[in-house]
Amino acid sequence: MKKETILVIGSCGQLGTELVEALREIYGIDQVIASDIRKAAGEVFESGPFELLDILDAQAWKGILQKYQPTQVYHLAALLSATAEQQPEFAWKLNMQGLFHVLDAAKEPGSSIGRVYWPSSIAAFGPNTPRFETPQYGPMDPTTVYGISKYAGELYIQYYYKRYGVDTRSLRYPGLIGHKSDPGGGTTDYAVAIYHDALKDKQHTCFLKEGTTLPMLYMPDALKATLDVMHTPAENIKMRMSYNLAGMSFAPEEIADSIKRHIPDFNILYAPDSRQAIADSWPAVIDDSLARTHWGWKPDYDLARMTADMLENIAPRYR
Ligand code: SER
Repeated sequence: MKKETILVIGSCGQLGTELVEALREIYGIDQVIASDIRKAAGEVFESGPFELLDILDAQAWKGILQKYQPTQVYHLAALLSATAEQQPEFAWKLNMQGLFHVLDAAKEPGSSIGRVYWPSSIAAFGPNTPRFETPQYGPMDPTTVYGISKYAGELYIQYYYKRYGVDTRSLRYPGLIGHKSDPGGGTTDYAVAIYHDALKDKQHTCFLKEGTTLPMLYMPDALKATLDVMHTPAENIKMRMSYNLAGMSFAPEEIADSIKRHIPDFNILYAPDSRQAIADSWPAVIDDSLARTHWGWKPDYDLARMTADMLENIAPRYR
């Protein structure tokens, strides 16, 4: 295997935390540089190289590039949907300018960066997108700053691929659910918090209402998809915007029922807030047939299996 140096930007977030671990298992601890604007508590990164990096700081970014000469960059730093609505101007700046810093470095002649991963999201869809079997191509009219930045980013990564030959790869993640980090300000994050609340209080107050079906993906599947799309030969990547990706779809009462199978006296209450409107603008069930056909995507987890695994892994914290 060619020696790779991998830089993960936004490594303390929900995905980054676990991706760094997975990449270090594949490439070796010292070959994977974790970076974030701050160190999260209880760092997994003490086990390997970590750099404080604000991706908006052009000088600092240049310094990291010179120091490590990364061959692959996973650029994950962004504000998620609900947080971005609190500070829309900053969210646009971070989500777009950060991406341009990475893409512009990769397009430089002689750049060390051979491949760039950047995540998109179901937030790139909007109220006029078909909600069921949501196709890869169709009406895209995102209503959140986060979604607008994701859709614009998709068009730009495709542009940099076509115009400058930057090998960009991307997935439209559903809501991601994992047990190694806390919810990160997303509209789908109730589906992480609910497991913690179930173990702590046997009760969860959901900020979405009953019947709000959203696409979701369990972290081991998200990691598998991310690594697979990055490791597949370039000629298999026939979609240079972001691939539709699906794992499972459920509404709050369905995840609550799956928890009740383990904790019979668990109770869910509903107090929908501004995040309901965001959820209502997103699809319910995604058609991910292109990912399946082009590079063999297939998720391993359904709701029941995910619930069993989440509860087992989180339970020790609340004993
Ligand atoms: N999980 C994200 C959010 O809710 C969607 O990409 O913001």
